[in-house]
Amino acid sequence: MIAFLIISFSLIFFGYLAYRRILHFRTFSKHGISGPPPSFFTGNITQLRQSGETPLTVMHTWGKKYGKIFGYFVGTRATLVVSEVNLVKEILVKNRKSCGDRPPLIVKMEPVTDTLVGLRGRRWSHVRGQLSPIFAKASLREMGRTMAVCVAVTGEILAEKVNKRGGGGIDVWKLYQGLTCDVISRCALAMEVNSQRDNDGDEFLAAVRGFLQHAMSPFILLALCFPSIAKVAEVGMKAFGVSHLMTRMIMTSVTDALQNRRRGTTDRKQNNNSYVDVLQFMLNSGKLSDPEILANSWIFILGGFETTASALTFSTLLLAQHQDVQEKLASELEKVLGVDEIPTYDQIQNVKYLDKVVSECLRLYPPVATFVTRHVNRDMNFGGITLTSGSTVQVPIWEIHHDPNLWPDPEHFDPERFNPAEKVGRHPMAFIPFGAGPRSCIGARFALTEIKMALAHIFMKFRVHAPPIDWAPKLAVPTVTLVPGEEIKLTFSLRRNVS
Ligand code: HEM
Repeated sequence: MIAFLIISFSLIFFGYLAYRRILHFRTFSKHGISGPPPSFFTGNITQLRQSGETPLTVMHTWGKKYGKIFGYFVGTRATLVVSEVNLVKEILVKNRKSCGDRPPLIVKMEPVTDTLVGLRGRRWSHVRGQLSPIFAKASLREMGRTMAVCVAVTGEILAEKVNKRGGGGIDVWKLYQGLTCDVISRCALAMEVNSQRDNDGDEFLAAVRGFLQHAMSPFILLALCFPSIAKVAEVGMKAFGVSHLMTRMIMTSVTDALQNRRRGTTDRKQNNNSYVDVLQFMLNSGKLSDPEILANSWIFILGGFETTASALTFSTLLLAQHQDVQEKLASELEKVLGVDEIPTYDQIQNVKYLDKVVSECLRLYPPVATFVTRHVNRDMNFGGITLTSGSTVQVPIWEIHHDPNLWPDPEHFDPERFNPAEKVGRHPMAFIPFGAGPRSCIGARFALTEIKMALAHIFMKFRVHAPPIDWAPKLAVPTVTLVPGEEIKLTFSLRRNVS
């Protein structure tokens, strides 16, 4: 009798859970929004992540089939994909009260919970308010000097490769990972690494690469599919995951630097004997707790390492494949900056053609592929489209940047698209490599300064040659960043016969 009751009760209980799950998977269809049919256990995760295609290709196929607005399920997370630009503006820019936060973290782990990415509501506003001035003009001008030191090393390494080995077969993805790791470590973590000169051996760079390789933890996927066991996933991740070497190294470096600076003892100082880095700006604010400082130093390496290396890699490839643009850029740089100098933050603002080139590269290969998401906290309706409370809205940058209605002949590389006259009539959401609205990328200007300084120095000093113009590398999106799915090897030669 007892066994019968237990079995009956279990059947009713699990039947009820299954019924609720099936009802949940109707979130979109009941509002007339189409999308790929979800599977009972994993939603659409397997189609998105394990079909052998990149999420970009899968999204594109879905977009063709279901239109500019469709719904899918990341595990059980109802996600409305919106690439209709007027609605994008409503969501990212205009309705900050109803959809101003990112979706809640699926697994709540330190340090991510205290970062800009993990924080929500008022705490996010407070921390963002304290961090924003760090990326304003005055501080970037200062940090630009540190960037210049790192960019000079990239130039030296390339010159050595050209002089010793003829400059062929240089893997630009690895080269730029070394540069961006160097820049962000010095600017945000008070760490001096050897990631450029010892690209394969540097312990910190290896730790960051390792972290990113395993960032898509199976525990997160499990928690996405079965949110009620997210706590179990947290325990699993604590045991196997985030106590990762990279996190430990960052925590140790930043904690030591904080102590030293408070005591007035040295870690690393700039020429004028004062610290000029993100860490010092955070300390000076006086309104951030130590966990907030530590966590946001940690998120800056994740925000600024792979993204910027991706932008530099694809920009260099595109310039190598379009020799006419490369030559025009080189002569413009020489005219404005002189020869071989590493430009300063202010000088870089004057090279208008460089800005157009970088923008067009970010349009064609937007480094952040799947991260622009917002949490809907109350039911809303825009022109007949219902956004259900509790769901996530995702803005697919790649789709928008390649939309033929916004960008005629979208696959064609043409920096002139960014002429002021062309920009005037364009929808403000047509070009959003850094997202948009209050939650847009806090490091956008930092990244643009670094990208422009590096490209300016490299293309003033070197000519870069490439595979045929119609060769397109395989792409991959292992986390949220678009990266090359295969080696991109280019040939460098010196423009002038001096190193
Ligand atoms: C080319 C380089 C970069 C690209 C393309 C990029 C792109 C993005 C995008 C698309 C977002 C989401 C914006 C949204 O949801 O509207 C974002 C957020 C963010 N990025 Fe970047 N990023 C880059 C470099 C950086 C750098 C250098 C840093 C730090 C130094 C950084 C730190 C962050 C942070 C902390 C957020 C979360 C902001 C918040 O939620 O308040 N990013 N980035």
